[in-house]
Amino acid sequence: MKMLEIKGGKPLSGTIRISGAKNSVVALIPAAVLSSEEVTICNVPNITDTEALCEILEFLNVDVKRATESLVINSSNMQNKEIPSMYTKKLRASYYFMGALLGKYKKVTMALPGGCSIGARPINLHLKGFEALGAKVTNNDNIYTVEAKELKGTNIYLDFASVGATINIMLAAVLAKGTTIIDNAAKEPEIVNVATLLNNMGAKIRGAGTSSIEIVGVEKLGKCFHEVIPDRIEAGTYVILGAAIGNNLKISNIIPEHIEALTSKLEEMGVFLDIGADYIIVSSGNNYNPINVKTQTYPGFATDLQQPLTPLLTMCNGKSKIEETIYENRFMHIPYLNQMGADIRVKNQNSTIIGPTKLIGTDVVATDLRAGAALVIAGLMAKGTTKITNVEHILRGYENIVEKLIDVGASLELKEI
Ligand code: EPZ
Repeated sequence: MKMLEIKGGKPLSGTIRISGAKNSVVALIPAAVLSSEEVTICNVPNITDTEALCEILEFLNVDVKRATESLVINSSNMQNKEIPSMYTKKLRASYYFMGALLGKYKKVTMALPGGCSIGARPINLHLKGFEALGAKVTNNDNIYTVEAKELKGTNIYLDFASVGATINIMLAAVLAKGTTIIDNAAKEPEIVNVATLLNNMGAKIRGAGTSSIEIVGVEKLGKCFHEVIPDRIEAGTYVILGAAIGNNLKISNIIPEHIEALTSKLEEMGVFLDIGADYIIVSSGNNYNPINVKTQTYPGFATDLQQPLTPLLTMCNGKSKIEETIYENRFMHIPYLNQMGADIRVKNQNSTIIGPTKLIGTDVVATDLRAGAALVIAGLMAKGTTKITNVEHILRGYENIVEKLIDVGASLELKEI
């Protein structure tokens, strides 16, 4: 097991370059198999989720060539086999192979993980979409088989603007006969990134990024070259870190509009942000106002950023509140922040952060990806040493996080224990 040892309290200066988006690449990699030719994806982040998906590709006899930050994927010799849980349990986003293999072969059998620590995370909306397209779904002990004689375009209304369901239905519909409309679709930038890949391959998708997406089915998809967008959650995490303990910390290679909900909240707090075309420069302040945050689907405040934001709110003069509306269990970082000296109360889906409080380093545990990110920020802010175990969670979603932080003056070390 890996542990991160952080000696906190050092102001961070210099530049952190943001990598390709985890929540985009985990969909782009399965989507690539819909092409019968070579697909090149660049700006691919070197994170364990990328590796786990490439293992599934290789299990399905897809040819994968890796370069420094790109993948060349060729599925011309691909075999449609049942994907066992040893592969799919590593990340929930393996469920995108469901839409991709259904779309390509009209049949898919794969094991799917149940919920995870932040919530039940059912896939009922994904399956509702597949059935609407004409597929039959069977589930034997979480081994799902989804198959159809023919996939026919149709109108699908999503009860909730689910990111995963929107993308998975898009993957299943691109080669269907006729036109599919997804209403109440999710509008996250990652969805636009996936739709752009598919259109570059020859698909006919319009409206990605809005709540209504039209997919006109085509016969086949060809080769293309595509780029992963910058990771808005990684970017937001480091901007928050800069507001906590930065000294002209520059976060580069970002799309500022993708984190507008965060930056406007930080400015409301009294953080000064120098926002450029593709960067943000931020320094720590010492007189922050408390704020209220409610997580929403995009373009609202991202649920993935409420956990990293929490340690920063311990610096505010007064009571801040966070309301989590997307997941049912996304406050597991809070007991550890309180052990470090924070004063945070949780009631149902709301946390109240009373500040200002000083954080002191101690031993803590990363319970999930973004909780882990929150503990890294707290450790860098705290006086003394913080030891975070279970950091495998963090390495899933933050490329080269140790190197990036050391490059801007942090004192931390990744250890095997
Ligand atoms: C994506 O998850 C992201 N993961 C999540 O990021 C992110 O928090 C989430 O979108 C919301 O922005 C990836 O893209 C790999 P949803 P996803 O379907 O697609 C419920 C991170 O930290 N729901 O929009 O699973 C679900 O239970 C991760 O990077 C159903 O009820 O999110 C949840 O409460 C965490 N039925 C809510 O919708 C369904 O069929 C949001 O889910 C699907 C979802």
